[in-house]
Amino acid sequence: MKSKKRIVLAYSGGLDTSIILKWLQKNYNAEVIAYTADIGQKINKKKIYKNAKKLGVKKIIIEDLKDIFVKNYVYPMLRGHALYEGVYLLGTAIARPLIAKRQIAIAKKLKAYAVSHGSTGKGNDQVRFELGYHYFGPKIKVIAPWREWKLNSRTDLIKYAKKNNIIIPKDKKGAPPFSIDDNLYHTSTEGKVLENPKNAAPEFVFQRTISPERAPNKNTIISIGFKNGDPITINGKKLSPGNLLEKLNIFAGKNGIGRVDLVENRFIGIKSRGVYETPGGTVLMLAHRAIESVTLDKKTMHKKDEVMPRYAELIYNGYWYSKERFKIQKIVDLKKNKINGSVKLKLYKGNMTILSRQTKSNAYSMKKVSFEENKTFNKSNVERFINFHKKKL
Ligand code: ARG
Repeated sequence: MKSKKRIVLAYSGGLDTSIILKWLQKNYNAEVIAYTADIGQKINKKKIYKNAKKLGVKKIIIEDLKDIFVKNYVYPMLRGHALYEGVYLLGTAIARPLIAKRQIAIAKKLKAYAVSHGSTGKGNDQVRFELGYHYFGPKIKVIAPWREWKLNSRTDLIKYAKKNNIIIPKDKKGAPPFSIDDNLYHTSTEGKVLENPKNAAPEFVFQRTISPERAPNKNTIISIGFKNGDPITINGKKLSPGNLLEKLNIFAGKNGIGRVDLVENRFIGIKSRGVYETPGGTVLMLAHRAIESVTLDKKTMHKKDEVMPRYAELIYNGYWYSKERFKIQKIVDLKKNKINGSVKLKLYKGNMTILSRQTKSNAYSMKKVSFEENKTFNKSNVERFINFHKKKL
């Protein structure tokens, strides 16, 4: 017997992708390979195996990509200080390119003709997945069920699930759930009560940060060591990228740090409101800027700030694998930017305070800046400097 065509599906184990699993098998008469990237999201491997098997899947692949995700995606992005529209740390946007890359690699290895994802037709993620697929496998077909099928409402989905013996989790039987995406870097929550920007986010939507009011009355002091631009130690202890971020998430989360509530402009032209929790990333961003402040020269720092908004926009729009992003990454990662040193911070009730910056770099000159009189900075030039600028007003 001729073997069936194969499709590699990005499978989370949840209701939507379980429905897609079934739908693909039926509508494309294909063998579906369920692929799950473990990038630090809340994951129930047993449930993934159980659900996928029950739905007739023979090959289920779960890969631990936590260290790769942090080292090759989150850290480069942090080196570039990427913030979309001034506030969003891009926790979902940075994860999609890695998942897309691995899906294509698996499709090629297992000779699948198509890949598929469960992103809805209104969001950014479909773009991010599909630009990633295109970069690594332009000849591989993409199936986006949400843009294809006739299941237009939640009721349709539930009906389809019931008809096909797909387990409907208890919390999904009633009102539709929040739309949540999480990984080691962040949790994002959208939908329901949050859809109206006038509603304050209820406390129960937060998953990995405590509210500043309920944070402990005692501060946490931590020191982060950087090597060649990336964090490598916490309190002097060397940790893998995944473990380091996990640890920081705990320190920051319990001190109420890393919450952002924002309305963003999606790539496809809709405004949406979301609640984001990026505890460890928020601390790392501040610490990275702090160590750069004593290691980089002014021109380099300002150049990085100048390219940052575009860099963030490229990541947001799914252009991680693009000439323009690679070009900006080169500016971000110039050899002289591979900074070293350590930063000590105090975390307390939603706030971060920098206590100390230490480095062997001599970019910062105490001699030059000192208020104690000395001769290393020629003040007579300053008057000419100001006069020059008067003419430019
Ligand atoms: N709006 C965010 C982004 O485009 C998050 C999208 C996924 N999050 C979700 N809750 N479904 O990056």
